[in-house]
Amino acid sequence: MASLKGKDILHGNQFSKKDVEAIMKVASAFEKELKKKGSFSLLKGKLLATLFFEPSTRTRLSFEAAMQRLGGGVISMGSVESSSVAKGETLVDTTRTVSQYADVIVLRHPRTWSAREAADATPVPVINAGDGAGQHPTQALLDVYTISKELGTLKNLTVSLVGDLKHGRTVHALVEVLSLFRAKLYFVSPGLLRMPEEITANLKEKGIKIIETEDMMEAANASDLVYMTRVQKERFADLSEYERVKGSLIIDGGFLKSLKKKITILHPFPRVDEIHPDVDTYPGAAYFRQIRNGVFIRMALLAMIFGKR
Ligand code: NCD
Repeated sequence: MASLKGKDILHGNQFSKKDVEAIMKVASAFEKELKKKGSFSLLKGKLLATLFFEPSTRTRLSFEAAMQRLGGGVISMGSVESSSVAKGETLVDTTRTVSQYADVIVLRHPRTWSAREAADATPVPVINAGDGAGQHPTQALLDVYTISKELGTLKNLTVSLVGDLKHGRTVHALVEVLSLFRAKLYFVSPGLLRMPEEITANLKEKGIKIIETEDMMEAANASDLVYMTRVQKERFADLSEYERVKGSLIIDGGFLKSLKKKITILHPFPRVDEIHPDVDTYPGAAYFRQIRNGVFIRMALLAMIFGKR
């Protein structure tokens, strides 16, 4: 595979199938070793900076956990309000500044393509931890790692992606990676929240089979896996549109009872109401295991970016 050493991680389409397999292999080795050792000194002396211009729980903390488990250090911009961004500093100036202190930058920002802009402005690797309604490539990698662990394979899968496919950066990145493994895809959303035409057309051009529907039951019954997502309230220019579509696709106990087969359920979290807590004890509910896998994937990515794997 192409080495990740010194590379930026910006988009789900930057990986080959071999890259994804190599990253998952490293993640799996870390997962096993971590159970025995608890921590490593592989990245001793290296510093990671987290720059989050939007809320985050899992992505920021799992990157920080991954770096610290590898023996590296972490610095973090507390909040937009407490930084010079509040004084009007540009993203380029902020990331250039941080690149004077840290060896790698993890960035989350509300603007699409912001991670590319930051990467172009700085000499240190930039990892896109979510750029608006754009991409979230490290989430896509932890998602396929979870799928391969839960289902035992990435071959010949049928996957339903459900919810806000228009604004959801997790699904935008995930379909890129799933397309490498030739998954058949159901896109399940209300009409207002359909997958952007550009993404769908591009996948179809690659020969990926896509079925668009509003019927989650039909899609789930035909799928190995259902990937639920939150309706991204913060991306709506018109909140009355949000009110119209929120709560339209929900998995609860009743839904599970009507299903014809056992399925695996993932969700990048946070959830609002799209998966009822009753579902958490369903054996196929894999979202908390998915959250844990984020640490192993991010350990793998950091070790590889520093040329240590
Ligand atoms: C997602 C995100 O921020 O894009 N969360 C995550 O990183 N796990 C999903 C969301 O906000 O709905």
